[in-house]
Amino acid sequence: MLKGKRILLVISGGIAAYKALELIRRLRERGASVRCAMTKSAEQFVTALSVSSLSGEKVSTDLFSLTDEAEMGHIELSRDADLIVVAPATANILARMAQGLADDMATTLLLATDKPVLAAPAMNVRMWYHPATQRNVEQLKKDGVAFIGPNDGEMACGEYGPGRMAEPLEIVAAIEAQFGKPLPKHLTLVEPAGKRAVEALQIAQDLKGKRAIVTSGPTYEAIDPVRYIANRSSGKQGHAIAAALAARGAEVTLVTGPVNLPDPPGVKTVHVEAARDMFSACFLDLPVDIAVFAAAVADWRVAVEASQKIKKTGDLPPVLKLAENPDILRAISTTDKKRRPALVVGFAAETETVVAHAQKKLASKGCDWILANDVSEGTGTFGGDSNTVHLVTQGSVENWPRLSKPEVAARLAERIAQHFSGPKSKPVLVKKGS
Ligand code: C5P
Repeated sequence: MLKGKRILLVISGGIAAYKALELIRRLRERGASVRCAMTKSAEQFVTALSVSSLSGEKVSTDLFSLTDEAEMGHIELSRDADLIVVAPATANILARMAQGLADDMATTLLLATDKPVLAAPAMNVRMWYHPATQRNVEQLKKDGVAFIGPNDGEMACGEYGPGRMAEPLEIVAAIEAQFGKPLPKHLTLVEPAGKRAVEALQIAQDLKGKRAIVTSGPTYEAIDPVRYIANRSSGKQGHAIAAALAARGAEVTLVTGPVNLPDPPGVKTVHVEAARDMFSACFLDLPVDIAVFAAAVADWRVAVEASQKIKKTGDLPPVLKLAENPDILRAISTTDKKRRPALVVGFAAETETVVAHAQKKLASKGCDWILANDVSEGTGTFGGDSNTVHLVTQGSVENWPRLSKPEVAARLAERIAQHFSGPKSKPVLVKKGS
């Protein structure tokens, strides 16, 4: 679809500029060539060097650069593209576009072009709702600019609401839609006025009426009042899943171990420390329709927690005797029919033969699906922002591309919604354990 297409990406100066880097990668993966122009403020967020390394092309920043103009003038550059994408599109660049200003390279390209323009706004929620921005967006729609997003969500500034830039893969889908591919059902492209329906990006409320429980984060198993056993789980994936299920209308309880993340909006969040507390909190919340166990629960705890801080005695170091923790996933998967959720999803973090291990785990835990991910050294999955997963069900394996954790969450929520409503999407079978 995008093979051979020439995209001119205008990056303006918002915190979401870092997502433009991923967008470049996703577009190039699909065979598009990406030439970029950056505003001065975009350079405060990402460097022209990283943009140029990822795009494999020179980056245009300076309107008055003699060398740039000699190589490819701004008029030529703006006409050479098949599509111009502005991502992130800040309130400021939208205002300048709406006014027809041409006071830097980015806006000059946008004014000089005769090609379609797609904008992915990103800004603080109040800036988005400001009448001036809304007026500018309306003007730009009339001028023929298409919009994708902004999405609802937590902002870098801590506020919540519409203003988050659409995720890179959503922008890719919107770009493909410009070239005629139908958009995925849950996305709505805001077309230029008069062309197609003008609607905000909406997420289908297809999990309304369903109850879900999600576990997330690590557990802390106390050794004594000051020490504990823990692991490196950040909780990013579990929290994103809770948020994604809630965004589709489910009533979600998130049971989380200690993490450095805000509680997801619209989700009832229960904070626990040890595996046994997580176990009780989960059972307390039954019955639910959906259970997703993304927590990295400690397999063992110290058999007897010391009531006082263990002291160095000068003799041999103390020996810690371990006891096995309850397995929440197995217990809920195998609980009586009345309380068992209709769909139980477990995770498998593996460092080798990921799919084969996940298939074994599916049988041994008695759950319905396993999301298996590779956490071997160098993948950066633990604590990182992206994940490569395989959705293992009885008899099928779907290999998902490397996605950001919110994208994995959104895709899982979509698959869950499909499971309850059909139609079932076709699984992609893998040849052997990978
Ligand atoms: O057995 P393992 O720890 O690899 O299984 C991982 C899956 O089981 C994850 O979904 C995790 O949340 C869940 N689990 C659990 N309770 C435990 C151990 C793991 O719910 N005690």
